[in-house]
Amino acid sequence: MFLLYTGFTVVNCPEGMVIYMEFKKIGVLTSGGDAPGMNAVIRAVVRTAGKAGVETVGIMEGYQGLMDGNFVELNSESVSNIISKGGTMLYTARAAEFKEKSGMDKALKVCRENNIDGIIAIGGDGTFRGATELSENGIPTIGLTGTIDNDITATDYTVGFDTAMNAVIDCVDRLRDTCESHARCIVVEVMGRDAGYIALQAGIATGAIGIVIKEVPFDESAMIERIIKSKAEGRRSFVVMVAEGVKDAEGKPYGEGLTLRIEQNTGVESRFNRLAHIIRGGSPTLRDRLAASMMGEAAVKLLLDGKSNLVVCERNAKIVTFEINFALTLDKMYKNKLKPGDLDRFSHSEIKDMEVLAEIRRQEIRDMYNAALSLM
Ligand code: F6P
Repeated sequence: MFLLYTGFTVVNCPEGMVIYMEFKKIGVLTSGGDAPGMNAVIRAVVRTAGKAGVETVGIMEGYQGLMDGNFVELNSESVSNIISKGGTMLYTARAAEFKEKSGMDKALKVCRENNIDGIIAIGGDGTFRGATELSENGIPTIGLTGTIDNDITATDYTVGFDTAMNAVIDCVDRLRDTCESHARCIVVEVMGRDAGYIALQAGIATGAIGIVIKEVPFDESAMIERIIKSKAEGRRSFVVMVAEGVKDAEGKPYGEGLTLRIEQNTGVESRFNRLAHIIRGGSPTLRDRLAASMMGEAAVKLLLDGKSNLVVCERNAKIVTFEINFALTLDKMYKNKLKPGDLDRFSHSEIKDMEVLAEIRRQEIRDMYNAALSLM
């Protein structure tokens, strides 16, 4: 079940481990793709731990730094004025060796030698796989979502999403200006890995005439018809939003071919624009600073309360937690990527909960997509 914690919602979902120990020193790391707001989490972690008399060390470059013992001392002063900074002051990396036994052995040795009693790991699903393995190997670990993709099914929100979305809106508004001047169509590809959240919400927010995401079938001819009709009615500029995860039959990015077909079939001069990493930088928005601060504070309190192997999430505007393996398996279920045996460790009621949560997410995307269509 959701972990019962002061002010947390209680829902049916597996509880994490409970470990009774006295904490003197914890580590914090950021891993995977950086996200605006990660620094705000680091600040919240250091300040909350410090108030409880617990020292925090920063682990540089994610799990790579954990294996190498690459640490930096952090205190209340050293995290001053980082709440407004994008990127991550601890840097980040994707460490392949950490997936191997040799990598885990190195990390455990480093934790023992440096008296690290627990870890807060900030990132996406790859980060949580590492966090759950650390927990299972005796290092209490709490995960916290930091990714622009908003692609962790257990949580309504991941730190970094709002800032990235605002960057997309800013870029597309600029693209719209030049398209309006030239009477053009701009096809914009946005990040999100396999998830269409960024494309869908940014598409709505920028008045796109078409949105292409993996989660919902795309009717290309209907979109072509919409462009032809709108052009006949006097519209000069068109925005089409495409999620980077959508590929054509040859496995090439869908947006590039789509741009050519729009021009051929509508007569509207068209351009392709890949926003890529530009949306991952910048000063975090209010939404991200708040989510990061509240989640960072909660993560430390959980750890110091003896909890481990949990991921801090937000559902219906409340901070809640899930056991990390539950959250990772829920993601696989949502993405139809479950392998035989994946559900074996879960009870019937836990599997039922996963099915409900996956369906809530699917329905949310379908509803939003339908709303978008009715506004085009
Ligand atoms: O997960 C964040 C993300 O920015 C995805 O949207 C994107 O697919 C990926 O990371 C890009 O990774 P990299 O920065 O390693 O190119």
